[in-house]
Amino acid sequence: MSSIRNIVILTGAGVSAESGIDTFRDGGGLWEQHRVEDVATPEAFARDPDLVLRFYDMRREAIQTKQPNAAHRALAKLDAEWEGDLLIVTQNVDDLHERAGAKRVLHMHGEHLNAWCMACDERPRRTGPLIDRPACPECGEAALRPDIVWFGEMPYRMDEIFAALEQADLFVSIGTSGAVYPAAGFVRNARELGVETLELNLEPSQGTGWFDEARHGPASALVPAWVEEVLSR
Ligand code: APR
Repeated sequence: MSSIRNIVILTGAGVSAESGIDTFRDGGGLWEQHRVEDVATPEAFARDPDLVLRFYDMRREAIQTKQPNAAHRALAKLDAEWEGDLLIVTQNVDDLHERAGAKRVLHMHGEHLNAWCMACDERPRRTGPLIDRPACPECGEAALRPDIVWFGEMPYRMDEIFAALEQADLFVSIGTSGAVYPAAGFVRNARELGVETLELNLEPSQGTGWFDEARHGPASALVPAWVEEVLSR
């Protein structure tokens, strides 16, 4: 641990579970309640935009009633106090990392509180619904869609993520099942680069075998303990 200077942290839905936001694949998770094909593909949006817009309007409203938990707060503390490079790459589309105070955050799957204008390509902030087809505040067109990376679409800022992995000494994966690529492949990219790897998850993820070390339990317990360890090294 003493030679660790640059850290890349990948977070998934498990880090927000204790804030009351459903994960995707756990029992009773979102993908048990909704078919991916109906709400999370560009084809679904073309086929039934109202169904898709209502789904994300409901989630956008819900996350604004949730609060960051101890895991988010611990990562914000690490971000504030860590002198080396640090990048929190999140698959989550909620804003709980930022509301906990974290700054060095990259949303690779988009953000609920942004919309994406199909006319001018801007991504205006949006806290209200899209179902009523509001005009884009930038260009005035009623062409806004959720700023969410759907299945079959390219995640955002992959170059920055790989550049950070190349500089990293430690890769930590928190609260993700390892079911969705390219995020699920980062641990192997890190290993190939000789980066130390650590998994913090409620249970072994699909990629748990690729990690040098894995700790299992709730993020609200594992993450603050790990952050104290790193900061006290
Ligand atoms: N603490 C730590 N880990 C937890 C907790 C918790 N309290 N609760 C659940 N987990 C773990 C689960 O064990 C599981 O491995 O979090 C993981 C959640 O997995 P998924 O529901 O598959 O979510 P995620 O990995 O973030 O999904 C990846 O898939 O649906 C797409 O784009 C969506 O970003 C998402 C991507």
